[in-house]
Amino acid sequence: MKIVGIQASPRKNGNCDILMDEVFKSAKENGAETNKYYLDDYKIEPCHACCSCGDGVDCIVDDDCNEILNSVLDADVLIFSSPIYYGQMTAQGKLFTDRFYSISRNPQKSFEGKKVVLIFTHAAPTGTYDEYINLTKKALFEYIGFNVVDTIDIGGVQEPGDVKGLNDVISKAKEIGNNL
Ligand SMILES: Cc1cc2nc3c(=O)[nH]c(=O)nc-3n(C[C@H](O)[C@H](O)[C@H](O)COP(=O)(O)O)c2cc1C
Repeated sequence: MKIVGIQASPRKNGNCDILMDEVFKSAKENGAETNKYYLDDYKIEPCHACCSCGDGVDCIVDDDCNEILNSVLDADVLIFSSPIYYGQMTAQGKLFTDRFYSISRNPQKSFEGKKVVLIFTHAAPTGTYDEYINLTKKALFEYIGFNVVDTIDIGGVQEPGDVKGLNDVISKAKEIGNNL
């Protein structure tokens, strides 16, 4: 099983990253192959809505995003993780997820049936962004064909590493990795 992690937090070893690594760790113990992209390390332009992809051609924007999208297409499972910045995913995450359009509009490409796990962390209490995470963002992934198998929404974590002290959420991340 191939798992690709898309890390939309610019903080390496931050809360999102720690949770993604816990999922990876237990999945690897079960034989999974993992690969992680830190979006902040890549040049990713916004979708320019040229809609060339609707004609069955690859996205014509010449940046790093197509490589990452191809890696998601090649994987069985996507782990997408972002902190909440001003009530939404990070700008890095938004730039990337808007580029899903180049797959969902292309009749020769599809995310249909791939599993996705969503991980969101934030400083405000757990549940504050329930509607955004569990309705809006979950619906986005489902709309383009992913099967959302689990979601972690953990609040009350501000500083990088705060999540390490939360045994329940660490256990949940491990369990998710085990069940993939
Ligand atoms: C620019 C910025 C905006 C933020 N906006 C919010 C917010 O609107 N609500 C919230 O609860 N936390 C907010 N936070 C806190 C982060 O969501 C929180 O620290 C998160 O756990 C960071 O995850 P990371 O360690 O993986 O980067 C913000 C942090 C930054 C840097």
